Amino acid sequence: MNVGVLVSGSGTNLQALIDREKRKELGPAKLTVVGSNVPDCSALARARLAGLPIFIADHRDHADRPSFDRALVEALRAHQVDLVVLAGFMRVLSGELLDAFPGRVVNIHPALLPAFPGVHGVRQAYDAAVKIAGCTVHFVDRGVDTGPIIAQAAVPVLDEDDDEALRARILAEEHRLLPAVVRAVAERRVVLEGRRVRVLGTAPGTEPLRTL
Ligand code: GRF
Repeated sequence: MNVGVLVSGSGTNLQALIDREKRKELGPAKLTVVGSNVPDCSALARARLAGLPIFIADHRDHADRPSFDRALVEALRAHQVDLVVLAGFMRVLSGELLDAFPGRVVNIHPALLPAFPGVHGVRQAYDAAVKIAGCTVHFVDRGVDTGPIIAQAAVPVLDEDDDEALRARILAEEHRLLPAVVRAVAERRVVLEGRRVRVLGTAPGTEPLRTL
């Protein structure tokens, strides 16, 4: 299964995928291309270093979201992408991309959805003084962080944490959860039934999609 990863930032989740693939722990998932809207982001540097093909679609070159999305679709299709992974991709997608890859776009979010959607999930969880935080991998729908939840991982919030300490603890879980979900999707073990997602039996040698 060809995987296209869209990134905008530091790319540590992309790196987790790259490292897992190198260790042959991504199952039939094959990282095929990395695309970004931020031409000089570190995530692209990581992709280059790993020898992955890259493309840049700068949203500032497009008059509207649909036109930007069409550029993404064209580039992803050119690389025969089957599954699109948003790994710190900081643009909201329009229907164009979602229609082109129905049920085949996943996102990682650094909060236990449906709590704290949007770009400040960690900060908001910290400010809300929750005792348990975490991350979510979900299918992308037309809302912001509203799509069907595939898997979640929880972490404690410690009394001595500041929001950066919490962010780091959540990020470490993201690096485990996202590759596990990509592998499960590639192994066709992720079944979408309405809004409910079932993840079928874990293959031997794979980490379970642990929630707690
Ligand atoms: C992660 O926290 C992810 O959940 C969020 O953006 C951050 C990206 O980090 N969507 P990185 O670029 O993978 O290091």
